[in-house]
Amino acid sequence: VIEARVETLLEQMTLEEKIGQISQYSGGALTGPGSGRSGYEDVIAHGRVGSLFNVSGPDVNRYQRIAMGQSRLKIPLIFGLDVIHGYRTIFPIPLALSATWDPAFIEKSATIAAMEARADGIRWTFSPMVDIARDARWGRITEGAGEDPYLGSAMARAYVRGYQGKSLNQEASILACMKHYVGYGAAEGGRDYNTTEIPERLLRDIYLPPFQAGIEEGAATVMSAFNALNGVPASANAFTLSQILRKEWQFKGFVVSDWTSIAETIAHGTALDGADAARKSIMAGVDMDMQSDLYRTSLADEVNAGKVPVAVIDEAVRRVLRVKFAMGLFDDPYARIEPEKMLTPEHRQLAREAAEKSFVLLKNDGILPLKRGARVALIGPLADSAGNMLGAWGAKGEAADVVTLRAAMATELGAELTYSIGTEILTDSRSGFTEAVEAARRADVAILALGEDAPTMTGEAASRTDLDLPGNQQALLEAVAATGKPVVLLVFSGRPLVLTRAAEQAGAMLEAWFPGVEAGPALVRTLYGDSNPSGKLTASFPRAVGQLPLYYNHLATGRPLAPEFDANSAGSAPKYTSRYIDQANSPLYPFGFGLSYTTFSYGPPKLEAESYSAAELNEGKGQVKVSAEVTNSGPRPGEEVVQLYVGQRGTSVARPVRELKGFRRVALEPGETKAVEFVLERNELAFWNIDMKNVVEPAALKIWIAGSSASGTPSEVSIR
Ligand code: IFM
Repeated sequence: VIEARVETLLEQMTLEEKIGQISQYSGGALTGPGSGRSGYEDVIAHGRVGSLFNVSGPDVNRYQRIAMGQSRLKIPLIFGLDVIHGYRTIFPIPLALSATWDPAFIEKSATIAAMEARADGIRWTFSPMVDIARDARWGRITEGAGEDPYLGSAMARAYVRGYQGKSLNQEASILACMKHYVGYGAAEGGRDYNTTEIPERLLRDIYLPPFQAGIEEGAATVMSAFNALNGVPASANAFTLSQILRKEWQFKGFVVSDWTSIAETIAHGTALDGADAARKSIMAGVDMDMQSDLYRTSLADEVNAGKVPVAVIDEAVRRVLRVKFAMGLFDDPYARIEPEKMLTPEHRQLAREAAEKSFVLLKNDGILPLKRGARVALIGPLADSAGNMLGAWGAKGEAADVVTLRAAMATELGAELTYSIGTEILTDSRSGFTEAVEAARRADVAILALGEDAPTMTGEAASRTDLDLPGNQQALLEAVAATGKPVVLLVFSGRPLVLTRAAEQAGAMLEAWFPGVEAGPALVRTLYGDSNPSGKLTASFPRAVGQLPLYYNHLATGRPLAPEFDANSAGSAPKYTSRYIDQANSPLYPFGFGLSYTTFSYGPPKLEAESYSAAELNEGKGQVKVSAEVTNSGPRPGEEVVQLYVGQRGTSVARPVRELKGFRRVALEPGETKAVEFVLERNELAFWNIDMKNVVEPAALKIWIAGSSASGTPSEVSIR
C-alpha cells in the first residue's frame, strides 16, 4: 500500500518539489555553526522543504499547518531534534548509560525519551550515536557507548527498540538515527571533525557492527558523518553509503547528512564548489541535506545539465516518503502537545535508577558506604551545579528540574551538612581553599565533587589534550586530603579522565558521570549504601594522556610486555619490548572494571567439549556453551556484570588479545552462587579474515568469564 501511495505522489511532483523533500533546515536553536534563520513559512508553502529540526511545541503544528494547508501536494514535514539522553527528564549521559551494561534499562529510558518528545511534537531523534571511541580526548565520547563493538551493538539495538517501538506509527514512536556514519569516533589525535584512517578490516570488525545492529533492529534513518574516511568524506562516500549500507545491509530507510557536512566536502577538498558537493553527496547516497542548502540551490541545475540522473533524486525522495507514510504522518500530521506527560514521578524514578546503575566505584579503601551520623563536609564546584548534571545535549532538560547533590545531602543531613565550593571548575583563584579545608577539618569525612564543565568541556567541539581534573581541582583535593580526613572523590565527567594523581589522595572514588535530573538522590543513596554500585567502565581510563588511544581489545605485538613488568615499565622491564619508558602500558582502570560494596568471586569457565568444528560453526549449526559459577563472597546483596571474553590464536590475521562476546547482569545475595551460561555461535566467533571473508577459522580459543577485561583465568579449547 505504501509503495503505491509513494509512486502516486512521486508522479505528481515537480523536480523542485522532489528536491524540497530531501532538504532539511534548523528552525530553532543552532546545533552547528552559522547564523541560522527563522521563518520557513515561504519555503514550506512552496513544498521546498521535507523536514525541520530544532523546532518543538506549538511551532510544530504551526509549520505543519502551512505544509498541509498551503503547499500544493500537502506533504507533511518531519520534525527532528537531538534527543540524546532524555527529552525533559534527563537521564545520565549515554557513556554513563552504557556503564549500566543493561540494554533493557536503556530501552526503557529511550521509550520515555520518545514519549516525552512526542508530547512536544518531535517525531525524529538524531540518536543513537554509535561511534566507537578509543580516545578520551574526543569530546563526543560522552555521547556513545565507549570502545567496544559488541557492547555498542547491544546498546544500539536497545536505543532503536526504545525510540521506535514496535512500529513507526504507534503513539510514542520516534524515528531513530544511527550516527555518525562512519568512523567519526576515530578522529586522529582525538580532535573533533579530524580525519580518520581506518583499514577496511578494522572498519568492519570494530566501527561498523553497531551501525549494522541498529539497522537490523529497524532504525529508519542514518546520519552521514563530518570526517573524511581514508581520504573520502563520509558524506560523499559511495563505499560506505552505497556499497555497505545499501547493497550489503539492504538498508531501506534514508540517510541524512550531518549539519552542513555536504558543503564541508569543499573544505575537505573533494568538491570544487557547492554544485559539485551536492552532486557527489547525492550520487554517493546521502538522501537528505541537513542545513547546507545545496540540494535546494544546486541539484535542479545538475539534473537539467544531465550530471545527476533524475532517477537518483527519485530514489532519495521515495526513501523519505516511505518513512513518512510508515510513520502515519499523512493520515495524522499534527502533534498533540501534552506537557503533562513530561517529568512525571515515574520518569524521575527511572532516571534515578539509571544514575545509580551507571555509577562506577573506582576505588574504595572502606570509607564507603558512609556511616549515617558521620559529619560530612561537601566540597567542590560540582556539588551544587544543576546545569552541569544535564551533561551535553540536554534536549529540553532544565537546570531547575535537577536535584543537586548538595540539595539531596541537605535533605539527608539537614543542618549537619557543611558545604564549601572550594574552587570554580576553571579559575586561577585559590581563595576558596581555606574555607574548604576548614570545613574538612570540622567533619568526619570530606566528599569532593570535582570534574568537568559539561557544556564547555564535553560533547561536540570539546576535545581536550589535558585530561587531569581541570583547573585547581587537583590542588584542592590535595589541600583537603592533607587534613588527614577521609576523602571520597565523586568524579563528574563526560569522558575517562586521568585520575592517577587523584587516586593517590582519595580513599574512595566514584565515577558519577553527568547523572541527569536525579543526580543528588542517586548519589546520596549510593554514598550511604542504600544502593550498591554496579556500573562497569565501557571506556578505558588512562594513567596518562600519552597512552591514548587506549583500548582493551588491542592486538598483541611481537614484543609484548609481560604483565608482571607493566607496573614497572620505567624500572626493570626488558628494554626491547613494546612499552613506554616512563609509564605502564595498562590503563589505570580497564574496560569492564567497577567495584561494589560487596565482592564477587569467579569459578573457572567450564566447557562441554575440548574442540569445536569451524565448519559447523560457519554453517550456523555449532555452538560453544560455556558457564562459570559466580559467587557473592561479600557482606551485601549486589549486582555483578558478568563478562565473557574470547581470544583467538593461530588465525590468518592477528586477533585482539581479548574481545567481549557476552555479558549479563546478575543479582546475588551474600553467599549466593549462580551458574552463568553463555552460548557462542558464528556471530561471536567470526571475523574478517585474510581474504576479507567473515568466517570462523580454526584457532586456539581462550575464554574468560570475569568481572573486567583485565581479570580472570581463561579456559582453552580449540576450533578445528
Ligand atoms: O545530530 C547533530 C550531530 O550529532 C552534530 N551536528 C548537528 C546535528 C543536528 O543537531
